Amino acid sequence: MPGRHTAPDIRAMKGARRIVVLTAYDASAALLAEKGGADVLLVGDSLGMVVLGQPDTLAVTMDEVVHHTKAVARVSQSALVVADMPFGSYQESPAQAVRNAVRLVSEAGARAVKVEGAAHMDAVRAIVAAGIPVMGHVGLTPQRLAEFGGFKVQGRTAAAAAVIMEEARSLAEAGCFSVVLECLPSPLAGRITAALPVPTIGIGAGPECDGQVLVFHDVLGLFDRFTPRFVKRYADLGAAATEALTAYAAEVRDGVFPGPEHGYAMPGGELEQLGKALPSDPSGLGDDPA
Ligand code: KIV
Repeated sequence: MPGRHTAPDIRAMKGARRIVVLTAYDASAALLAEKGGADVLLVGDSLGMVVLGQPDTLAVTMDEVVHHTKAVARVSQSALVVADMPFGSYQESPAQAVRNAVRLVSEAGARAVKVEGAAHMDAVRAIVAAGIPVMGHVGLTPQRLAEFGGFKVQGRTAAAAAVIMEEARSLAEAGCFSVVLECLPSPLAGRITAALPVPTIGIGAGPECDGQVLVFHDVLGLFDRFTPRFVKRYADLGAAATEALTAYAAEVRDGVFPGPEHGYAMPGGELEQLGKALPSDPSGLGDDPA
């Protein structure tokens, strides 16, 4: 079996073949995503919304990303495991950023980290200098949701597009091995892709990126609390799951499940022995002496 993808492998895919990225937050999703052919498993801070029921990604903690990354890294065999650096884990100082990136690698098992935005270039450079590959992320970076005023397409004006183009360039110059482009007009994403020496990974950024990322639960139709227009659903497992769970509940209530075939027998004679060993009065109180 070929070895696990590394960050340099992913970087070298630019211009050679398109890169398939899926989020994964647990072992079963990681196994399925790899079987499906994912090159990169991203333990995104979207886990806050998809798995932890939060309204956005801002409350996700380092401990939570470590916990979920461990589950993914334990079973993954072929994909590059990238852990997202959550809000508050790199903004204070480059030293804080390196400490947390090291934890995601040494304790959780990630082989690269993702940092949102270009406002903390010192942190990105310091993580790269520490020997940890960094995936950049520009456009709609959900950790700055309050600033953007909601989940909105970024870079629609020439001025805003130029800023995002510059941010992407700076991240590549700082040593990022790839850059996620989220929710950008397709022509802008195409320009950035042509200008950057490293692969771009699009999400809501059109067809011209070097690769694509989607949230695992969105691809499979397992999460419908928030479905952006750029999502393509390849299955409706949510409906299939609801149907199966409804059938289970009905069978339990009706006494159909479990049936005899789901139980275990006792070896011959043991039940009779048990009958002899048990007192005839199972309460053990006997007759009332009064
Ligand atoms: O957290 C996440 O899942 C992400 C991707 C959608 C890029 O950042």
